[in-house]
Amino acid sequence: MGMSVTISVATEDDAERILKLQYLAYQSEAELYGDWAIDPLTQTLDSLRTELKDRHVLVARLGQEVVGSVRGWVDADGVGRIGRLCVHPRMQGHGLGTRLLRAMEQRLGAEAVPPTVLRLFTGHRSLANLRLYQRLGYQQTAVEEVSPKLSFISLEKPLEQFAATA
Ligand SMILES: CC(C)(COP(=O)(O)OP(=O)(O)OC[C@H]1O[C@@H](n2cnc3c(N)ncnc32)[C@H](O)[C@@H]1OP(=O)(O)O)[C@@H](O)C(=O)NCCC(=O)NCCS
Repeated sequence: MGMSVTISVATEDDAERILKLQYLAYQSEAELYGDWAIDPLTQTLDSLRTELKDRHVLVARLGQEVVGSVRGWVDADGVGRIGRLCVHPRMQGHGLGTRLLRAMEQRLGAEAVPPTVLRLFTGHRSLANLRLYQRLGYQQTAVEEVSPKLSFISLEKPLEQFAATA
């Protein structure tokens, strides 16, 4: 019988495994933009350790291995933010990214003061990511030019909708 993938809250001990997975998963994004200096590839272990203290961080595990991760937090404006969704290239295309995103939506929805809106972003060329987010009910709200090579597309979904699909 094959092992199943479980989603849980990351612990401090997961920091290095998450960073390794992030470096691996975001290579495809770096290639897409011809830019290996994108934030997910330059993040330090210290910065990730701070995120583990301050934000919700979920991991998907297959046995001892971390094969997926996502971060979430409520920002100063009360907006639920989701980022750094990544799945091991070997495990992509089987619904794990969707499961991680849904799990983070539920976690943010369970905050003492739940956000009224959820926001995430991706690069303008990342069409598969845009499809994934749109399929889960996110709609494009803004485009921000980061560099001549890269624009960030923000997508949002209101609380009502994520409560209904959670
Ligand atoms: C984005 C990312 C996390 C998605 O993870 P994933 O596990 O592949 O996501 P899913 O499997 O839920 O969805 C991906 C595709 O698989 C399909 N799929 C989902 N479940 C499936 C199943 N059981 N069988 C076959 N296909 C399935 C989905 O329909 C989707 O298809 P589409 O690309 O045609 O829209 C992953 O590709 C990744 O790590 N990318 C690099 C980092 C990155 O870009 N992160 C996002 C930054 S904003």
